[in-house]
Amino acid sequence: MAATGSEKQGAKAYYVSTPIYYVNDAPHLGHAYTTVAGDVLTRWHRQRGEKVWFLTGTDEHGQKIMRTAEANGVTPQAWADKLVTESWKPLWEHLDIANDDFIRTTQKRHTDRVQEFVQDLYDKGEIYKGGYEGPYCVGCEEYKLPGELLDGEGEHAGQKLCPIHKKPVEILKEENYFFKLSEYGEKLLAHYEANPGFIQPESARNEVVNFVRQGLQDLSISRSTFDWGVPVPWDDQHVIYVWVDALLNYATAVGYNENPEKFDSTFPADVHLVGKDILRFHAIIWPAMLMAQGLPLPGRIAANGWLMVGGEKMSKSNLTGIKPQDLTSHFGVDAYRWYFLRAIAFGQDGSFSWEDFSARYTSELANDYGNLASRVAAMVGKYFGGELPASTADGDAEKAVHDGLAKAVAEADRRIGDELDFQGGILAVFDFVKQVNGYITEQEPWKVAKDASDEGRARLATILYTAAESLRAVAVLLNPVMPDTSRKLWDSLGAEDSLGALADQRVQEAGAWGLLPAGTKVTKGAVLFPRLEEKPTA
Ligand code: MSP
Repeated sequence: MAATGSEKQGAKAYYVSTPIYYVNDAPHLGHAYTTVAGDVLTRWHRQRGEKVWFLTGTDEHGQKIMRTAEANGVTPQAWADKLVTESWKPLWEHLDIANDDFIRTTQKRHTDRVQEFVQDLYDKGEIYKGGYEGPYCVGCEEYKLPGELLDGEGEHAGQKLCPIHKKPVEILKEENYFFKLSEYGEKLLAHYEANPGFIQPESARNEVVNFVRQGLQDLSISRSTFDWGVPVPWDDQHVIYVWVDALLNYATAVGYNENPEKFDSTFPADVHLVGKDILRFHAIIWPAMLMAQGLPLPGRIAANGWLMVGGEKMSKSNLTGIKPQDLTSHFGVDAYRWYFLRAIAFGQDGSFSWEDFSARYTSELANDYGNLASRVAAMVGKYFGGELPASTADGDAEKAVHDGLAKAVAEADRRIGDELDFQGGILAVFDFVKQVNGYITEQEPWKVAKDASDEGRARLATILYTAAESLRAVAVLLNPVMPDTSRKLWDSLGAEDSLGALADQRVQEAGAWGLLPAGTKVTKGAVLFPRLEEKPTA
């Protein structure tokens, strides 16, 4: 659960959500990617001193879960319980995810509110009964448009395939309840127009705008051919369509129709993080549902790209067996959290490779960052008995470091905190780390140490203070990304005694110079990034 520092009371929380994940299987690298991004974003905002709400959870209804449970010979509820307690929650804990709540769509706090929401729309005349026949993909839990489908080949010759799952669609014919989505096209377009940042990145925005411009069809929001779902309140022969049920988690989890104080101080979300596969649900259906109910719309729908394997979206069927835990046991949790955000521009697709991860770990984490921290601590130990000396001889070289830090702080804060450009923000901090390494190489403190004059001592003190104070700022700036490493560095710098808890350090103020007081006890702490073992053979 979240560690909260001193927060502005009364203000609306900065509310970030991940998708709620299907419990048909255990989490994989792709799910963890979105969740880690949300965790870094919310930790960043917490460290700005804001009140934050970070929500994740699981999507447990629908045909897909029902079929998986059947195939495993258990009830859908038993299946969901098992997956949540044995796979999903433990992984988030393992990855140090500080979510404030975890919603499950089978919880009563959710299902009751879903029924109320849908009943309300029905009473308002937004829902009617009608018939529909069309191609349906159970993997997506979505009716497809005939034009989107692919022609099957090989074992699927003659069949039409879902473009995402590459599996045959089923033709469904049902008497269903429909939401008048088609009436919201113009309003949605006007909203996109007036709020250019509503859908991110630009390519995602364009896709949605083009789709809506072609005209929207009404949305079938109930199913009567199976029963694993929330019953339609006025007609118990139907269950509510799993996507309508699922999207509502963003409202039910924060007190919709139950806790007005909580709801008003949290809803709507500032950022819904979604994979690009589920963009339309969030950027079209969800805002239309809110409009129909007169509720405020979220600030931003931010679509991340896909982690790819062999040119395909990484999914449980093509994972080549790599689990998040296989990577964390080799690289460590912090490096794992860092790697995907560092290596892939958020919003773009990216491929994972063990070799790339190893190379970046060694050069950027171990050599650039880890070595800097251990060298500085070692030199303060060797030349000043572990007591941080005062900086009394600042010159141009130090000024350049101070300026470099101020720039890194401003850039990281804007990129990560505002733009969700995790890669750009992390790079800004690592460029600064490189700058400090360059500064030490140029200043050659090991040579200055041979000069025992007052001037020589003052110079040496200044160099080591400058490096240690730079590391103080780096620990703060990287805390949202690599909390365990930052804590180790914070301990090694002895910063807790003088500056207080790491979580209470404001990221946007990290560039102020001279916060770490002279006299602080610096110790050679744990190695931040141990040398990697040989790659395990599968
Ligand atoms: N249950 C729905 C979401 C409902 S939200 C109201 C769902 N679940 S899912 O389990 O399929 O997870 C989807 C999300 O997991 C994606 O939107 C994305 O955020 C993440 N990812 C799953 N595979 C991924 C990749 N290969 N790459 C990146 N993210 C991926 O859809």
